[in-house]
Amino acid sequence: MSAPQPKNYAFGMIGLGTMGRNLLLNMADHDFSVAGYDKDTSKIPLLQKEADEDGVHNVEGFTDLSAFVQSLAKPRVVMMLVPAGKIVDSVITEITPLLDEGDMLIDGGNSYFLDTTRRAQELAAKGLHFFGMGISGGEEGARRGPSMMPGGDQEAYQKMKPVLEAVSAKVGGEPCVTYIGPGAAGHFVKMVHNGIEYGIMQLLAETYDVMKNGLGMENESMQQVYAKWNQGRLQSFLVDITKDIFAYIAPDTDHLLLDDIKDEARSKGTGKWTSQIAMDLQVPLSLIDEAVAMRDLSKYKSLREEMEKVYQARPTPGNDDQEQQLQELEQAMYFSMIIAYAQGMHMLARASEEYEYNLNLANIAKIWRGGCIIRSEFLNTIYNAYQQKPDLAHLLLDDTVRQHVQESVAGARAVVARMATVGIGTPALAAALSYFDTLRTGRMPSNLIQAQRDYFGAHTYELIGHEGVFHTQWTPMHEDAENKEDTHRGTGTENETPVIPNK
Ligand code: 6PG
Repeated sequence: MSAPQPKNYAFGMIGLGTMGRNLLLNMADHDFSVAGYDKDTSKIPLLQKEADEDGVHNVEGFTDLSAFVQSLAKPRVVMMLVPAGKIVDSVITEITPLLDEGDMLIDGGNSYFLDTTRRAQELAAKGLHFFGMGISGGEEGARRGPSMMPGGDQEAYQKMKPVLEAVSAKVGGEPCVTYIGPGAAGHFVKMVHNGIEYGIMQLLAETYDVMKNGLGMENESMQQVYAKWNQGRLQSFLVDITKDIFAYIAPDTDHLLLDDIKDEARSKGTGKWTSQIAMDLQVPLSLIDEAVAMRDLSKYKSLREEMEKVYQARPTPGNDDQEQQLQELEQAMYFSMIIAYAQGMHMLARASEEYEYNLNLANIAKIWRGGCIIRSEFLNTIYNAYQQKPDLAHLLLDDTVRQHVQESVAGARAVVARMATVGIGTPALAAALSYFDTLRTGRMPSNLIQAQRDYFGAHTYELIGHEGVFHTQWTPMHEDAENKEDTHRGTGTENETPVIPNK
């Protein structure tokens, strides 16, 4: 009897949930022979069944980790698609002794980037290449073509590049995957992608509120508005699905499922991390911060209901000049969406310096144009902006973007002002406008803040046209006013180093 032939699968997947199965089937569709592993034995027949249904043959499922690892061609490329957190560490602990030097392990989940930094360092010490790879596009994206953001060792990336490029979404024939940068760069970029995702989702929710409660519009009319927006410059995945949601009737009823859904939004944490890290990096991300805050506020349902009774919150809708107001709303949405992207890109530029990720912002915009949740027509403009000027200090300084901003900001002012007058909150729309108006202010009122800090805490201030730091005894707090000494002293240094997490 001859010995069994060693199997030689090109790619291995750990975690055969819907995302893992779909990505594996996508690879098999592209003629890569692939293996999947899951502890849960029920997942194997499911994989097999889906492969049969789709006419895919070059895929095998395993429930034995060692047999799975042995079935892979060397150097092995193994991806984990398991929930972020402790499970990633326990899978790494289990599989590491079975791998050989030079093998590659990819974490395709939404892991916290500092965990990825740690894991990459630990595995590098064992001769293994660890990749943190953001994958966007959900279950459908995994099956038909996601956008992928791999970070890790650039040379090792070349070995996995063919399969990733084959399965990714394509825009104009170009793959929506590119090498992002070293260490945790891939997971960092995915985190910021999700921050932008939170921002745009919140903006769309606010436009819904403006139309429903500000203009008194019915679901059907709102559906038409989103459908129209999706035909124009707001064309994007998120507007597209919003239009669909406004057409989905709850089974066995005559009304939208949307109307039955509780107004309490959940989150898995990536948006919050984006805001937290932006604060550590001291990059203002006010629109995204509001989006995170509003998910949190949504959970205080009973408190909100109590407040509504106390303050009689809801105004009577008025629909004068509806057509004009809808035009302004489209402008407001467009203007604010630009700000959401601009804040995210600013954060990426800052993180690239801080963490030495050497990010190529043009390439990032390019791979976000297809497959991912924030894909949109506008990403072409962002791509062009950074392609023309890779070191662009801020997206709003690009000429084309400037024109779009100037054309749409009036609508944002009109909507935010009107809603403020009638008492409908537009936190993300208003944050976008305030951010813009402050960013274009050469002299902010922060001189007053410096004076206040020096007044109560002797924190010192700097003077226009003078070197050094100064402190003033602002009032005769503890001494006789008559004997008050002057004032300017060139002493003291600030001792407030921002806390930046390790790379
Ligand atoms: C994607 C999404 C995805 C994310 C969900 C849920 O790019 O496909 O970002 O990765 O997990 O959108 O995120 P929240 O639970 O935080 O809303």
